[in-house]
Amino acid sequence: MSPTFDVQNPATGQRVQSVPNAGVAEARAAARRAIEAFPAWRDRTAYDRSAILRRWFTLMIGDEDRLARLMTEEMGKPITESRGEVKYAAAFVEWYAEEAKRVYGETVPSQFAHKRLLVRPQPVGPVYAVTPWNFPAAMITRKAAPALAAGCTFVVKPAEQSPLTALRLEELWREAGGPAEVFQVIATSEPAAVSTAFFDEPGIRKLTFTGSTEVGVLLAAQAAKTVKRVSLELGGHAPFLVFDDADLDAAVREVVLSKFRNTGQTCVCANRIYVQAGIHDAFASRLTEAVRALRVGDPMDPATNVGPLVDRQGHDKVSAHVDDAVSKGARALVGGAARDGLYFDPTVLADVRPGMRILEEETFGPIAPLVRFERDAEAVAAANGTPFGLAAYLWTRDLSRAFRVSEALDFGIVGVNDGVPSTPQAPFGGVKASGLGREGGKWGIEEYLDLKYVSIALG
Ligand code: SIN
Repeated sequence: MSPTFDVQNPATGQRVQSVPNAGVAEARAAARRAIEAFPAWRDRTAYDRSAILRRWFTLMIGDEDRLARLMTEEMGKPITESRGEVKYAAAFVEWYAEEAKRVYGETVPSQFAHKRLLVRPQPVGPVYAVTPWNFPAAMITRKAAPALAAGCTFVVKPAEQSPLTALRLEELWREAGGPAEVFQVIATSEPAAVSTAFFDEPGIRKLTFTGSTEVGVLLAAQAAKTVKRVSLELGGHAPFLVFDDADLDAAVREVVLSKFRNTGQTCVCANRIYVQAGIHDAFASRLTEAVRALRVGDPMDPATNVGPLVDRQGHDKVSAHVDDAVSKGARALVGGAARDGLYFDPTVLADVRPGMRILEEETFGPIAPLVRFERDAEAVAAANGTPFGLAAYLWTRDLSRAFRVSEALDFGIVGVNDGVPSTPQAPFGGVKASGLGREGGKWGIEEYLDLKYVSIALG
């Protein structure tokens, strides 16, 4: 195995930097360090852990320029969005710096006069995290901040495409006074072998993963060998329902935000847009105008809205979805073609119908497919007709319809007239093939806590 590996800039195809390439020996050593450091970190007061997290947050905010540039260079996110991600990522650290002090236990009444029953939350233990390239900072802090606040030690393996942001976060952690063994980054071009070293180690007590359903299932099966706790944030295939009574301008604006954020590469991006017949043509034409106005280009340019896709594999999938839809009768109202390098035209497809791949799989690219519908029940059935259940969106001015439809949608997150519901204080996560567990808010820290029941019999 090569001692270093290269990180490529998807906008230019050039090497950004080489990073040390961890193998199985380094993975085992990192796991051992995390296990040995756990008792001391667990036993520090919540106030101590909170103070370190707070300093980490402040350092991240102060480092926005550098972190954002690294992110854009390594995975192509438009720089304005990368700056937004630094704030989003840091906000998880701030939230859990506060939440560390609010891990409460309970007392339970006993039927025996001499007994006292206590329920005490305990950190689950050392955690192994596997994080994706699409949010190189936020997907780490959304996991690390609650874990560290709870008293767990944490080793993260970032995606091969985006280790630089992760390594910078590790430097900032140490600058904040965080012990080196408590938060470690292990960058590698051999993810399967490195992960196995963590799965084989019984002292690693939890796996947390964000990525595809396919990989999540494999990792969860390996984690089961040593009965680790598991949280999985997996694939999405988000439906976006626009009803006849929707505020058209707001729906168009928010579908653009949802669909084209991060060049369409988020798990919660609108992937299928169902538009009711009475508003369909007006919506299609406004959306086409808005998408035509998006600026595609150098992600380092603050005026760029849509950058390159992360790699050739991602680009091929987007092209395949568009080709398949067009070959089966869909029409590109704008875009529809691959550009040089890893760029793809922001695209709106009309006349999209069941049987097209784009309605069955997550696209992870800047393609907005429109499907016409007549009745509410038809749209809800189509929206739910997927193995995935991460995020769904609906647009209406009718409060009763908003309640009825949001209750009927089989998803972990529903945006009602809101295309970007993610926020640190709310629970993020899916049902069905989209995963297990929640990240964010008071629920996010529970994923890193076990309950210890202490029964005390008085003399
Ligand atoms: C993701 O794509 O998994 C994260 C998106 C978000 O936090 O909004």
